[in-house]
Amino acid sequence: MTPIAVGIDVGGTGIKAALVDTSTGELASTRLRIPTPDGGEPDAVAAVCKDLLDQLRAPSDARVGVCLPAVVAHGITRSAANISNNWIDFGAEDLLTAALNRKVHVLNDADAAGVAEMTYGAGRNASGVTILATLGTGIGSALFIDKTLVPNTEFGHLDIGEYIDIEGYASYGAFQRDQISQEQWGKRLEKFFTHLEKLFSPDLFIVGGGASKSHEEFFPFIKVKTQLVPAETKNAAGIIGAATMAVQYL
Ligand code: BGC
Repeated sequence: MTPIAVGIDVGGTGIKAALVDTSTGELASTRLRIPTPDGGEPDAVAAVCKDLLDQLRAPSDARVGVCLPAVVAHGITRSAANISNNWIDFGAEDLLTAALNRKVHVLNDADAAGVAEMTYGAGRNASGVTILATLGTGIGSALFIDKTLVPNTEFGHLDIGEYIDIEGYASYGAFQRDQISQEQWGKRLEKFFTHLEKLFSPDLFIVGGGASKSHEEFFPFIKVKTQLVPAETKNAAGIIGAATMAVQYL
């Protein structure tokens, strides 16, 4: 079986895809991006995925992994963040398998980013309990026991202190919306990570998502006991993790 797989990362504003060499975690093509169709409806998203797959000219036996901002259990999407609510309790894997005419594995976007980091990035030598958090419009999370993923943790939706859904307070989206300083944002993130420490006593936190590129600006303000490091796979993490899981699962 070819180690080349296709990773597709569906987000609220863009759908990104590339070929991935899953023996190294390197991209094996340029990264393509098509804006997410208005409303993020399943059929329209599937059509864009097909367009991207065609443009990539993937080998015919290449597996396809698709990650989404949704809880995904056994191929069924159970929630929807920044995409249509029609994804809720929807047969996403069946739709995409039919639309792409390939075997497709579907998973949560933060879980995919976590798999990329644990396989090729900042968590490749980790053991014990690792938590990855992606800081974007919302907060995504991935929990690992050694290298094993516990899927769909959704820590961004924890209620912490007076904050219902901590992502509305501590995400990069909240930082931009509230126009706060990096220090103020760091302190908000400290509340989030301190709470996770109480629950899980983790060995390592990995911080991913777009904001992790400028981690030097806010990391110094997050005082936690656990080692906290930036993600290494940066903005291709979802693509790389989705492709990796497709090879593992299909
Ligand atoms: C969603 C998660 C997703 C995260 C990052 C959250 O709002 O509930 O499923 O992983 O955003 O996209």
